[in-house]
Amino acid sequence: DRGNYRHFMQKEIYEQPVVVAQTLRSYLQRLEGRVTLPIPESDLSDVRRVTVVACGTSFYAGMVARYWFEQFARVPVDIDVASEFRYRQPVMEPGGLALFISQSGETADTLAALRHARAEGQRIAVVCNVPTSSMAREADILLPTHAGPEIGVASTKAFTCQLAVLAALAANLARAKGKLSEAAEREIVRHLSEAPAAINGALAYDEAIEAMAGTVASARDVLYLGRGTDYPLALEGALKLKEISYIHAEGYAAGEMKHGPIALIDDAVPVIVIAPSGPLFEKTVSNMQEVRARGGRVILISDYDGVAAAGEGCIATITMPKVHPLIAPIVYAVPVQLLAYHVAVAKGTDVDQPRNLAKSVTVE
Ligand code: M6R
Repeated sequence: DRGNYRHFMQKEIYEQPVVVAQTLRSYLQRLEGRVTLPIPESDLSDVRRVTVVACGTSFYAGMVARYWFEQFARVPVDIDVASEFRYRQPVMEPGGLALFISQSGETADTLAALRHARAEGQRIAVVCNVPTSSMAREADILLPTHAGPEIGVASTKAFTCQLAVLAALAANLARAKGKLSEAAEREIVRHLSEAPAAINGALAYDEAIEAMAGTVASARDVLYLGRGTDYPLALEGALKLKEISYIHAEGYAAGEMKHGPIALIDDAVPVIVIAPSGPLFEKTVSNMQEVRARGGRVILISDYDGVAAAGEGCIATITMPKVHPLIAPIVYAVPVQLLAYHVAVAKGTDVDQPRNLAKSVTVE
């Protein structure tokens, strides 16, 4: 039931404060400042390498998680899309942890990769939104997201819930490996607990995003740029826009522009720059200025400080609440989803059932 919403996608975007809170509740002990997984802690202490495999939006959640696993747990991470994973004959050392991320738990490519990893002696962890799914049943370690049924073909709330679970997993892995002090763990719990309210803050920008959708809707090509964990978000933004508005869009690592794609820039290509203020801000902004110097029309998504520092000369800015870098990908997912949504509505496409796509891709 869509309730008062126009589309399931819109409803699911709006459910995020509640479902992210619901998901976090089962992984965080807020009062104790502890992160807990539904497995014995000793299960993770001997993990030497994590192999992450997923498709589409779930893959981008995995890309964000790679930064966290490396940063917090200092564990090397290998990541690939499921449809390529098996064919490159990946090296998996005995005892490694293979992590599969899937909303549906039925994606054929991901399931085949899971079975391949199992045959290679990997321990299988699954982050999944459907507890009765094939992947959930075949997992050694099941880490559920509690997003509730996701109907819109474009994944939204499952993504932010995946990020919440993956952050909890990163913290748990770090602790199991002796890399996380009690104080640092308390901080992580505190930051994650702030995510639902910050998502609400992001949703408050909905009308402003709707107002700028027309500019993007008339474009033939759109670029998304980000650095660090905002790079996977740039990829996610581009995927969301392609899939529901049929506008050609690409996401790039901001620093990679000058190695080729900047040749595409002219005043017909909107460039969406995702750059929360923080340690990576200056570098991303200088990439943004390179785009502007070539006549590119920039939409900057940042927080108040970032918009104040670099918003001038952009065709539009989107101001997010100021958040800790850990939860920035969860919060910045929201404007990226809303923009795709409003552009699709402006274009009159079938938002919930885009052409050529199925909710669950059960062929390889
Ligand atoms: O159910 P899964 O998470 O395994 O699905 C993976 C992709 O098919 C899915 O994320 C797809 O890219 C979405 N339509 C993106 O919005």
